[in-house]
Amino acid sequence: MRTFPAALGLDPDEVEQGVRLAGMAPSLHNSQPWRFRVLPHAIEVHADPDRRLPAADPEDRELRLACGAALFNLRLALEHAGVRPVVTLLPHLAGPTTLAEVRSGGRANPRPEMTLLYEAIPRRHTHRDPFRATPVSAEVRHLLANAAREEKSWLHVVQPGGRGTLEGLVHRANRAQQASARFRAELAAWTGRPDDTTEGVPVSRAGPKPEPQDQWVHRDFTGGHASRSAEVEFEATPLLVVLCSPRSSREADLQAGQALQRLWLTATTRGLVASVLSQVVEVPETRDELRRLLGGDLAPQALLRIGHGAPTVPTPRREAADTLIDA
Ligand SMILES: Cc1cc2nc3c(=O)[nH]c(=O)nc-3n(C[C@H](O)[C@H](O)[C@H](O)COP(=O)(O)O)c2cc1C
Repeated sequence: MRTFPAALGLDPDEVEQGVRLAGMAPSLHNSQPWRFRVLPHAIEVHADPDRRLPAADPEDRELRLACGAALFNLRLALEHAGVRPVVTLLPHLAGPTTLAEVRSGGRANPRPEMTLLYEAIPRRHTHRDPFRATPVSAEVRHLLANAAREEKSWLHVVQPGGRGTLEGLVHRANRAQQASARFRAELAAWTGRPDDTTEGVPVSRAGPKPEPQDQWVHRDFTGGHASRSAEVEFEATPLLVVLCSPRSSREADLQAGQALQRLWLTATTRGLVASVLSQVVEVPETRDELRRLLGGDLAPQALLRIGHGAPTVPTPRREAADTLIDA
């Protein structure tokens, strides 16, 4: 078992806690595509090339979103431990897998709003079950949009008039992916797993088995192991938001990942739950159409469904020590 070194003026236990919380970030198929290199003066976030999902995410865009989300958790953990995190994305002269470097900008007390987000990290989970009918208030929508903006990203709230077109695009993207044997094989390899898995999605976290009549197609993570009870009925009008970047670039993907986590944690602090519907942003044709629907300037990164729901259980993660790169 690897032991954690001290770094940034923190002791090994504090560093381990930071890496453990970073690893609680969401990732496509729970692939956890990150690794951390702990040096005395910096903690680096790396992409893990062995955890790429080339069929769903050939350009590693969602890999960078996940690593950006992990970076946001790491920032929160450092601030909570009294270190002001100073982040450089894609540092010059770094190796090809280095996505970010975090150094210390000195000691600082954690800001109260960041403490709330920090405390929400273990309570944030993907919620694939139906939501309650209670709408998300305008005040909370405003908070979510602010959370995205704080991280140099933009939140587009889908208006009732735009739902039909978006629904059509999501179904089209889903059909395109399901027609690909390569995509189906990759999804099957990462989902429908037993409960003692430490990566991928276990059957027990898959949510209800999707059915053709569902308005918003969820992915089938059940691996063919579960059936759906007749009572399951999805809410008619969830809050749907598209997280966008001002442009397409590797750096923008890392920013959007931090924004994704900031808005998801903000939603968690307000008792809300969320799930991600990625098909439409993964298939290039539907992603382009979505971009045009949003006016042509913004680059869509993630479609989220947000609402009120019963608490759900966490999806397992690897041990923090297994995500370390030897310094
Ligand atoms: C970029 C990205 C895309 C995702 N796409 C989907 C998706 O299409 N469908 C889905 O049910 N979950 C999706 N998820 C959620 C992951 O499956 C989830 O984060 C992972 O299983 C870990 O579970 P947790 O979020 O409960 O910690 C996505 C997450 C990320 C970060």
